[in-house]
Amino acid sequence: MTDARIIDGKASAAALRARVARAAAEVERAHGIVPGLAVVLVGENPASQVYVRNKRKQTIEAGMRSFDHTLPAATGEAALLDLIGRLNRDPAVHGILVQLPLPGHIDPEKVLDTIDSAKDVDGFHVINAGRLATGGQGLVPCTPLGCLMMLKDTLGGLGGMEAVIVGRSNIVGKPMAALLLRENCTVTVAHSRTRDLPLVCRRADILVAAVGRPEMIRGGWIKPGAAVIDVGINRVPKQGEPGKHRLVGDVCFAEAVTVAGAITPVPGGVGPMTIACLLMNALTAACRQAGVEAPEI
Ligand code: GUN
Repeated sequence: MTDARIIDGKASAAALRARVARAAAEVERAHGIVPGLAVVLVGENPASQVYVRNKRKQTIEAGMRSFDHTLPAATGEAALLDLIGRLNRDPAVHGILVQLPLPGHIDPEKVLDTIDSAKDVDGFHVINAGRLATGGQGLVPCTPLGCLMMLKDTLGGLGGMEAVIVGRSNIVGKPMAALLLRENCTVTVAHSRTRDLPLVCRRADILVAAVGRPEMIRGGWIKPGAAVIDVGINRVPKQGEPGKHRLVGDVCFAEAVTVAGAITPVPGGVGPMTIACLLMNALTAACRQAGVEAPEI
């Protein structure tokens, strides 16, 4: 069997960002609206700092406004809810993103559900989760949206395919299941308590790995020719180089690439698509709030 086709998320994301930037320029020209995205970071989690820096940079590159709110780790829940209230009322802010994880003394559910659902560009608000689950028009979480776009680019129509998602988080697993169901896939959501996980994975035409366990999914778990989307980003020690690290996914890439039909690498797969989808959501949110039609992206 020849090696799988590598799904180039970096290239897809660059192309999507360019389309979003063109559409944003068109909206500004036609309606005088510049989409504004507020990014709130509480504390000093190094991985979050990197994500947030990239989000801010790419927001500006797409011709949108970025409003930055970096708060100390000791910020109280009431102060954060107060800031979200102000952003909800600010007409220049069309999208609000509160970077997760939050410090332990803050209830993330309370925070996410305080965001105006029309400005919830992460798609984490219970109203947007409900709309996705019931087939309504809401804002869709960025990571599963990026995964879906790459799957459609790679496979074309997905109807009738067996999709297995490993992981049942609110951020990836559950919304991914809803999106694939909407595409008429037969969807299985597997998780840590699933019996005979390798057997369940082997029936997948589409396998989405989102468990956060480095290289857990082995080559022998993959159906020959399947499309494999690896959402995991895990930092593991580099062998033979003490103190150094490398990034690996939830799939053992070296094994999977010899079995799968197509596969996303880590890094350079799902990650870049997440931010590109966030920018797309910010533009969608801005157009809906202004009551104007969003250009085709
Ligand atoms: N932390 C890790 N991924 C995400 C994401 O997609 N959105 C937010 N808000 N926080 C995250």
